[in-house]
Amino acid sequence: MSALIRLDKVGVTYPVHGHASKVVLSELDLQIERGEFVAVCGQTGCGKSTMLRLILGAERPTEGRVLIEGEELPRPDRHRGYVPQKYSLFPDKTVIDNITFGPEMEEFSIFGRLTPKFFRRRAELRETAHGLMKQMGLDAPDAHKYPDQLSGGMQQRVAIAQALVMRPKILLMDEAFSALDPATRSGMQRLLRTLWAESGTTILFVTHNLNEAIYLGTRVVVLGPGQGIVSDFRVPSDCRAESGYPRREELERMVRMVEEAGEPQLAGSLS
Ligand SMILES: Nc1ncnc2c1ncn2[C@@H]1O[C@H](COP(=O)(O)OP(=O)(O)OP(=O)(O)O)[C@@H](O)[C@H]1O
Ligand SMILES: [Mg+2]
Repeated sequence: MSALIRLDKVGVTYPVHGHASKVVLSELDLQIERGEFVAVCGQTGCGKSTMLRLILGAERPTEGRVLIEGEELPRPDRHRGYVPQKYSLFPDKTVIDNITFGPEMEEFSIFGRLTPKFFRRRAELRETAHGLMKQMGLDAPDAHKYPDQLSGGMQQRVAIAQALVMRPKILLMDEAFSALDPATRSGMQRLLRTLWAESGTTILFVTHNLNEAIYLGTRVVVLGPGQGIVSDFRVPSDCRAESGYPRREELERMVRMVEEAGEPQLAGSLS
């Protein structure tokens, strides 16, 4: 069976007005199997968001191929959920409508939204959305609030629920927790690991925080600026204590591996 995601000698070059073009990714090979949780690290500008957009199908590579289950899929679809680096909710829709908007748009044309089938499906989607909200620690009355009535952490949860409501095979998250305070962040990390373990979804999660990468990931991939992958290692499952966190000595060993791979600035993000 082919890998779930395969990047085959992928290159991305952007034309830059008045300058030579900018090479962001070059000769990038990466294979991701079903059920992996891949944390992607690397310094700013090295192409992490670009790589996620390629896998989403929102961008095409200049060179090479991006294959999902062996196929090139040039457009986003319901099998790939995405929480962008700068997520934004629809300000004029309530929480519940924000969550159900994607599938409603995808499944029904504007005229189809006047049929009994639509109302049945809407009820189903709302039930799913309420279930997701509960799982994510959002209270039932929050469903009818608007985004500007929510804290940043709550908005973040809604953005994640929006991506999850389609039950995607692949979930792409770009620095999804970077704006959260430490307590909310560690709650969201636990929640995401639980959701991953329960759903079997394959996750790619971009983060600048190595501690977070090693806690969340079954694998940590580090991109270097203009160098492609400088480090790719598996986080052994037996290094985790009961809390799910890797034991201190294992964590330190993995940090040293990343440092040796030439990314010392990442180690500074360890608490
Ligand atoms: N549409 C575009 N046109 C031109 N250059 C672009 C475009 N998108 C990204 N870039 C450039 O490509 C490089 C990689 O961008 P990307 O957003 O993938 O980096 P990143 O690793 O996600 O960085 P960060 O950690 O800051 O989010 C950057 O130098 C950026 O300026
Ligand atoms: Mg980015």
